[in-house]
Formats: sequence, C-alpha cells, structure tokens
Amino acid sequence: MLSGKKVLLGVTGSIAAYKATYIVRHLIKAGAEVKVILTPAARDFVTPLTLSTLSKNPVLWEYFDPKDEEGKWNNHVDLGLWADLILIAPATSNTLSKMAAGTCDNLLMGVYMSAKCPVYFAPAMDLDMYRHPSTHGNIAKLQSYGNIFIPSESGELASGLVGEGRMAEPENIVDFVQDHLKKQARLYGKKVLVNAGPTHEPIDPVRFIGNHSSGKMGVALAEAACDEGAEVTLALGPGSVRPGREEINVIDITTALEMNEVCENEFPSSDIAILAAAIADYRPLDPAGEKIKKSGNKLVLELVENPDILAGLGQKKSEKQFLAGFALETNNAVENARKKLNKKNCDLIVLNSPSDKGTGFGYDTNEVILISRNESERKLSLKNKKELAKEILDHIISSISL
Ligand code: CTP
Repeated sequence: MLSGKKVLLGVTGSIAAYKATYIVRHLIKAGAEVKVILTPAARDFVTPLTLSTLSKNPVLWEYFDPKDEEGKWNNHVDLGLWADLILIAPATSNTLSKMAAGTCDNLLMGVYMSAKCPVYFAPAMDLDMYRHPSTHGNIAKLQSYGNIFIPSESGELASGLVGEGRMAEPENIVDFVQDHLKKQARLYGKKVLVNAGPTHEPIDPVRFIGNHSSGKMGVALAEAACDEGAEVTLALGPGSVRPGREEINVIDITTALEMNEVCENEFPSSDIAILAAAIADYRPLDPAGEKIKKSGNKLVLELVENPDILAGLGQKKSEKQFLAGFALETNNAVENARKKLNKKNCDLIVLNSPSDKGTGFGYDTNEVILISRNESERKLSLKNKKELAKEILDHIISSISL
C-alpha cells in the first residue's frame, strides 16, 4: 500500500526520536518516498545526517537557513501538498497540544496545518503524561479532525517506569499505516481474479504450441487491483513476468485446460474477473508421450478446440459480478469487439490492435479502446502498461456499485 507513496515523516523531541531511523528504513523498504522534518527539539535526539542518509532526501527543521546565501526558504505549503500522507512519530505531548490548538511555531506545525492529506500520529511519553486528561483530550480532538491515532505500547519507559506511553515499535507503526490504507482502499474486501500470459499446448514432452504474450498487461492489472486493496488471485501462464506484490496469490498454469480449471474454481467467489491471458484456441489432440523423431515425411498435427474460458465464465456470471475480457482484432476492430462483448456476456472488452505502434505483445506500452455494455467507446492513449492498468481499473471501479 505504500509503494510509490510520498510520506512526510515528522519527528519531535522525544527519546523515541532515535527510532525514527527505523521508521524511515521500513517506509523505504515498503517502497515509499520519504522526506523528514524535525522539530528543533528533535535535533537533540537524532541527527539530520542519519535521517537524510536513510531517506535519501535533505532533512528540514526550519523555514529559513541563515547560512544559505541564496536566501531559499522551505515552503511549508508546498511540502504539505507534496505529501500523500504525514506521519508524526514520535509525537510528544507538547506537539499533540500544538496540533490540537493550531499553534504554528515551527516548520513541522506549518506543514501539518497546510496539509490536506491523511495525518497519522504515534505518541511517545511517560506513563503519567500519557494518562493525563489533557493528553486524552488532545488525542480525541485530533481524531475529531480526522487525524489517525497510532496507540502507544506498554513497556519500559526512559524514566525507568513500566507502563503505557512508549511509542509503538517502528515496524508496528508502518504495518498500522499499511493496514489502515488498505482498509480505506476502493477494492478492500473484494476478490479479483486476473489471468495473464500465454498457454503452452504440448505436442510432445519437449515441444509445444505457444504465443509471444509476456503477461505484462495482466500482471499490471493484478498489481493495480492489489494496490486498490483487493484480494487478488492471478492465474499465470508460463514464462510470464512475475508480479511485484507478495500479497498476490499466483497460481502457475501451463495449458489452456489448466487455466480453465483455475478460472472455473476461482470465479464463483470473485467480485471482478479480468481475463487478459492469450489462451491458445487449439491444442494437439493427442500429445506424443515421447519426443517425436523426424521421419523424412510430412507431420500432421490434429488440433482440437480449447474451451473458451471467458465465454464459460460469462454464462455463469451473476448480476453482482463484473467480467472483463481482452480482444485482439485486425479488421472492423470496434464492431468485432462489441460482438465479442455480447457473445461472451462480458461487461467490458479491452480492445488491442496489433497494428498500432508500441502496443501489444512484449511492449511495455499499450493503447486500447474500452468497450462497455451501455456506453460508447473510450480510447486510452498510448502509455506505460502500469499506468494503463490503473486507468482500466478506475473504469471498472466506476462501473460497478461497490
Ligand atoms: N479467451 C478465453 N479462452 C479462449 C480464447 C480466448 O478466455 N480459449 C479470452 C481471452 O483471454 C480474451 C478474450 O477471450 O479475454 C478474447 O480473445 P481473442 O483471442 O481476441 O478472441 P477469441 O475469442 O479467441 O476470438 P477470435 O480469435 O476468433 O477472434
């Protein structure tokens, strides 16, 4: 959920500030871009150099550096707008009070007041300070502003006392944020089935009938659905690219019959199915058990038709399910794709044309036309398959009532 997200980490003056270094590492590991802002007091606990080395970005703590001869200043409004989310950890009792009251006396508070993105805060203080009614009041007030509270944990405190108040462990903080983002995501609680890649239809133990599909488009769609919080199953053909999200349940298949079995099993429990695989339409009727030797004569292979998986799922589709297929057409493309949509009872056909430059098998880019049941065609211009996957998914999400 944090992959590609811009995270602004605010660190305030608590002994737990040293743990901010681990928070930065976990955020970077999760794929986030991180900028750190310190309060002046935080600099007594952790050095800007450590945090800038880990975050790979300059660490800021003041509006204006008097030593800067060019007179540049750190614009709190720009920083607030840059962030997809702000995480204030550790958040001292002093900072909680300033956030609640709107006291804007340092760069971090200026950024906090300017930001429109979600703000998470993880308090850190001694147990009696944590128990104090003013702390409870401030936390409640911040929650009423929509800020997200990451509760403190229990354990040994810097004072030597044992109790609640220490900042949640860095790993738990990052897990909390990921989990929260997931629950906010548009496809949280939905199951999505995607298929991708080619199929290989055996001729004998060492040869097969296949095609040039790389699986890139389908894998990008599976990743996009995962980023929207869905539980994703990806039925993936041989030699395809692999998804970059551990949460995706990948089921490797080789043949069209295996792909059919996986899709038939998974479809009943899926809310959305996107069939992007290049399934071989035919398979050798009787694959040889041993390698076929040359005989000096013609070799004739008898082929039989594979099941049309998309059409099969279209027949079983319920009112609540959304089914999308792809089409590759060389002539009368839109008309033929619309016929395919009706014949296979899909809700969407994503039309590729192999003649367009930079599109189709093997390329990182694609250009498609979306053909929906009740709408006119919508063209998505040539772009990276990952960006295209997001646009296709946006279209699907806006077409269904979640
Ligand atoms: N498809 C499928 N099972 C097959 C063949 C295709 O599920 N045996 C799916 C593909 O995954 C794609 C859609 O059907 O989502 C369209 O594939 P395409 O090859 O363009 O169309 P076909 O139905 O095979 O028709 P034709 O080749 O005759 O154009």
